[in-house]
Amino acid sequence: MTDLVRFGVSLEKELLSKFDKHIKEKNYPTRSKAIGDLIRENLVKREWTEGKEVMGAITLVYNHHKRELVNRLTDVEHDFHQLIISSQHVHLDEANCLEIVVVKGKPKNVQKLAYSLKSTKGVKHGSLTMTTTGKRIA
Ligand code: NI
Repeated sequence: MTDLVRFGVSLEKELLSKFDKHIKEKNYPTRSKAIGDLIRENLVKREWTEGKEVMGAITLVYNHHKRELVNRLTDVEHDFHQLIISSQHVHLDEANCLEIVVVKGKPKNVQKLAYSLKSTKGVKHGSLTMTTTGKRIA
């Protein structure tokens, strides 16, 4: 286990009570866990602006009856194949598909791939979850 350090934090009363309300709603067991997560969130953001390698998950929802769209998405994924670790396809109903593409690479390249997929005509919803390789986070 990593060493724990105790430190004092001074905050405005109102800000702390808002924070406590927030962490209660999010079911955080302690303030320490909530503050640790805020710090890690910031470290991940920094990896995405300054880091060399990040992880992410791109999710897409589309109608597979639009064959041109499916071909276009496959073309884009092949163009960026070095970034793609895996992809999972779920048939949501007769028409709609959900695809989850796990990606790893330079932040700019991963974002470019995500935008290319999301902006493909016919994609109903696309999002990029920006996360980390975990190597630079305690
Ligand atoms: Ni499908």
